[in-house]
Amino acid sequence: MEKKRRDFIKTGSLLGLGALLQPSKLFANSQNIAHANASPTVDKGRPVFNMCGYSAPKIDNVRIGFVGVGTRGQAAVYRMSQIENVTIAALCDLQPDKIDFALNRIKNSGQKPKIYTGEEDWKAVCERDDIDLIYICTHWALHTPVAVYAMQQGKHVCVEVPAATTIDECWQLVETSEATKRHCMMVENCCYDFFELLTLNMARQGFFGEIIHCEGAYIHELTENFTRKNFKWDMWRLKENYERKGNLYPTHGLGPICQVMNINRGDQLDYMVSMSSADFVLGQRVEELAKENDLYKPFAGKDYRGNMNTSIIKTHKGKTIMLQHDVSSLRPYSRIHLISGTKGIAQKYPLPGRISTHHRNWFTEEQMKEVEEKYQPAIVKKIGELAKKVGGHGGMDFLMDWRTIDCLRNGLPLDQDVYDAALWSCIFPLSETSVNNRSQAVDIPDFTRGGWKKNTPVDISLSTGGNTGVKDIRKPLKEDFEL
Ligand SMILES: NC(=O)c1ccc[n+]([C@@H]2O[C@H](COP(=O)([O-])OP(=O)(O)OC[C@H]3O[C@@H](n4cnc5c(N)ncnc54)[C@H](O)[C@@H]3O)[C@@H](O)[C@H]2O)c1
Repeated sequence: MEKKRRDFIKTGSLLGLGALLQPSKLFANSQNIAHANASPTVDKGRPVFNMCGYSAPKIDNVRIGFVGVGTRGQAAVYRMSQIENVTIAALCDLQPDKIDFALNRIKNSGQKPKIYTGEEDWKAVCERDDIDLIYICTHWALHTPVAVYAMQQGKHVCVEVPAATTIDECWQLVETSEATKRHCMMVENCCYDFFELLTLNMARQGFFGEIIHCEGAYIHELTENFTRKNFKWDMWRLKENYERKGNLYPTHGLGPICQVMNINRGDQLDYMVSMSSADFVLGQRVEELAKENDLYKPFAGKDYRGNMNTSIIKTHKGKTIMLQHDVSSLRPYSRIHLISGTKGIAQKYPLPGRISTHHRNWFTEEQMKEVEEKYQPAIVKKIGELAKKVGGHGGMDFLMDWRTIDCLRNGLPLDQDVYDAALWSCIFPLSETSVNNRSQAVDIPDFTRGGWKKNTPVDISLSTGGNTGVKDIRKPLKEDFEL
């Protein structure tokens, strides 16, 4: 892995690292040189800029270029169109009909984005000097290449989950963000769901005592979604399910509990083991489809990843995490979100979420209300109702976007930095390695290079946010059925 990192640095010029050395390009959109709140870290004897707690210069009006406006991207375009001081400057997608859908969703907003439809047009979008933020919603294989190139062109990045699918890509993101001093936020929307924010605030106030163990998951039966004809571009999500193994989508379950456990900021993931069941669903389903439709023939007879994957992670401070991934067994949706401490416990799924400080019962409805009133984060009080009106998975998506724009406009550190993006994503390739090796333990890289010992906890649950406005809500977002 170390070798691969060096390879990236060496071959960086081929990938456009030259741009890193061109201050005029890098700071094209910034009046001031960026600064960081946290102390530098050291990599092999050389000081490294620490992006944890980093505040970029304020951007009053955030100009966004979207790359990938399929299912997820168009919803993001729509949400962003509702936030004041946002310009939607570019929409880039290979499929013109997806662009048309996205344009239709913002037709009354006054936004006039430039359109790009070429395979490599995302480079031209990144190169524009009138764009501040590249928002990436493509299939996974393009996440890191676009994010790295965008940062090299001086742009901040929001990238959909997972930000990377190999350890090498994780390091590319980290090293590029540090070298360019550009934000690379993986837009892990589940960190902004209401029960997650409530329990984060409760953890901050000591409600659970010392956190001992947490559980998270992405359990979502998506067989129909993956196999539906041309629903996903080039059937990419079905392909991932036979090309890769392990936990392909760790971040929805892991992100919120890492924030509760102060991972990267006081504690660090140390090592993990991972085990997968065999596949009893996907392969069979694709065989059936292939009998009826030639489209599915190339997908038949493949070695699909096992339906249920379970990983167990140990932290440096001796805490544990259980993480699951299952997108093909028939069962109700769950991210579990269990937080267990010396003084109490919370568990979100099965809904409704529950809390207790006792070994006998969960809190009553009345006790739950009291807790919710006492620990509701200020940011939820401020923007929560509005977020529910705009929607996007019940409002959390809008809360996330509003918060991100608000931080960029006010020069505040983002809630999720590049170390979070890399760490939460790296469980994907590491679980694969463990699964392929009879569940042997694998070390988890410390992308902060020891910075976690000094980095301060994320303050989303304690922040009130700035003054970013929201435009008239024209029409609530049709609920995305997929998360
Ligand atoms: N956070 C969430 O709740 C959530 C929910 C769904 C999906 N996602 C993530 O969003 C991302 C997109 O998923 P989706 O469901 O929208 O997939 P999708 O297939 O519907 O959309 C991907 C889009 O990328 C476009 N694309 C492909 N190659 C391109 C290129 N070279 N240049 C420009 N555009 C290109 C495709 O044409 C397509 O429109 C994935 O990373 C997925 O994991 C996140």
